[in-house]
Amino acid sequence: MVRAWFMDSSDADQRLPHMQDPPQFVDLDTLRDVSGVEYYQISADGYESNKELQKMREDRGYTYHDQIEITKTKLPNYEEKIKAFFEEHLHSDEEIRFILDGSGYFDVRDKNDKWIRIECVKDDLIILPAGIYHRFTLDTKNYIKALRLFVGEPVWTPINRPADEHPARINYVKTVMAQ
Ligand code: LAC
Ligand code: NI
Repeated sequence: MVRAWFMDSSDADQRLPHMQDPPQFVDLDTLRDVSGVEYYQISADGYESNKELQKMREDRGYTYHDQIEITKTKLPNYEEKIKAFFEEHLHSDEEIRFILDGSGYFDVRDKNDKWIRIECVKDDLIILPAGIYHRFTLDTKNYIKALRLFVGEPVWTPINRPADEHPARINYVKTVMAQ
């Protein structure tokens, strides 16, 4: 089950949890309110025939999918990718990740520009809204396998911060941050 918390400001290894002391956890309803991030728990085993997932794909128009495995031996240009994933960025579309195996951290900015770290493990499906500033890192186990979903032809391009004039950002600020 996913957990989320406000990050500390230490510059120690990005793969460590970076919890504050004492930890400041964020529940899923709050996470949604302060960032627009949606979370679903779906069984990854036999997901191809999972009705809930099928329904979500139909309802939300997720016509595209592929799998990504992030680990040194399987991901081409691993070091470069790991670095790019952890650069604060946004996308013009939702970022949808369904964790099939392993684990990792999605960090998102809340409405007050504070980092919230979202711990994702098998059976977690998260949807980051278009225009949210975020980044990703593996944890110290150094392995994640995820299904990537998309509406139509995928655009994975990260737009690094600052991107406040990007239409997706403007729309995010108007719809999510104004709530
Ligand atoms: C991505 C994640 C790493 O853009 O944010 O694929
Ligand atoms: Ni991204």
